[in-house]
Amino acid sequence: MIKKISGKPKYGDYIKVTKKPKLIFPLDQRRCEYYYSGRYAFAGALKSLNIKPGKKILVPAYICGIELEPIYHHGIIPIFYNVDRNLNPDLAFIERSIGRNVSAVLAIHYFGMAQPIGALKKICEEKKVALIEDCSHAFMSRHGNKPLGTFGDAAFFSLLKSIPIPNGGCLITQKKNNNNRIATRREPDKLSTFLMTADLILQKPIEQKSRCKQWAEQAALSSCLVILNGFRKGLAGVRRYLMPNALWLARSDTYEYIEEIEQWGISEKSRSIIKTIDYNEIIKTRVRNYNLMYEYFQNKNLSVKLFGRLKPGECPLLFPIILEKENKRKLVYKALKEKGIVSHPWWDRFHPKVTWEDFPDAKFLKNNLLGFPIHQNIEPIHIEKMIEAFDNIWGRI
Ligand SMILES: Cc1ncc(COP(=O)(O)O)c(C=O)c1O
Repeated sequence: MIKKISGKPKYGDYIKVTKKPKLIFPLDQRRCEYYYSGRYAFAGALKSLNIKPGKKILVPAYICGIELEPIYHHGIIPIFYNVDRNLNPDLAFIERSIGRNVSAVLAIHYFGMAQPIGALKKICEEKKVALIEDCSHAFMSRHGNKPLGTFGDAAFFSLLKSIPIPNGGCLITQKKNNNNRIATRREPDKLSTFLMTADLILQKPIEQKSRCKQWAEQAALSSCLVILNGFRKGLAGVRRYLMPNALWLARSDTYEYIEEIEQWGISEKSRSIIKTIDYNEIIKTRVRNYNLMYEYFQNKNLSVKLFGRLKPGECPLLFPIILEKENKRKLVYKALKEKGIVSHPWWDRFHPKVTWEDFPDAKFLKNNLLGFPIHQNIEPIHIEKMIEAFDNIWGRI
């Protein structure tokens, strides 16, 4: 019996490969610089491109929110551009908004699907501004035969979203632009890495096992999890109220931005995991899972909106759907969770500095998009379970 389908890939799977694994872009590039996570790699991109305080950057309005922190921390001014409900950027607006003070355009490859990167590159080249690719969802993804992240003047990745590592983001820049390169960034605090690793280990794997073994494992893991969570919450409380600057409790999965962490690199732990992963197998699994989900939704003709088929080379982060009524997302998410399926009400936080009323499409996406997990630990049997659960819930709400 499958107890839980987790939203994120699990520690330990796809890590031990029999053949010598081959690194993938951008990890196979000597120019690749490692950071604690994607947001700090973005800060590295802004520094590398020498974007000074007071300069402007064009940023999509459909945004997680955390990407804005490096911009504000470095005194740069975002100008938001619309992204429609199909995730297409407003190219005409971008083109006419690039004025004297604009230094760069940020493009986000949502869910691993390529933005119209050729058109964006052309505009940026013509207007002589930098193009920054946010590949936080697009590690392992390609546009045709070129990896995403090779089109812009700089590209950054949030590796920890796609592979089970305690921390890790990276930056790749066109060599001539990089003003920020330092040979080695600092090892992240060891306690912080230890706690994030423990978190990954303790998340229950989605496996079919004998009842007895399953029960024993569940009991052992649950008690560890309860103890660890208690410990972590206690420490987090101490940190927030008594030691807000204590970096030893920094987590790579929060909405915080801590300027000192810009100097941190990736941990040794993450580096050692990265070297042993079979990336091609991960890509194959993710694409297969996306296609299985797509076929189902397509055949069922439910009133949910899909984002189309994957283009050749794209490696998806998750399977996004739009539920036309806002309250339905909450209901579906809750009902799936009760059945042990962790889906993602994607980007449901609204950054206070964005004037959301000016961007109804971004607001709509933030309120209505739900992502299903399709990561490397999801097998067809889990897809079946998700589909069965969704069908069941959809019939009731
Ligand atoms: C599009 C996008 N860019 C950047 C980031 C920041 O990445 P990280 O969490 O690794 O710092 C995120 C994180 O949620 C994101 O979704």
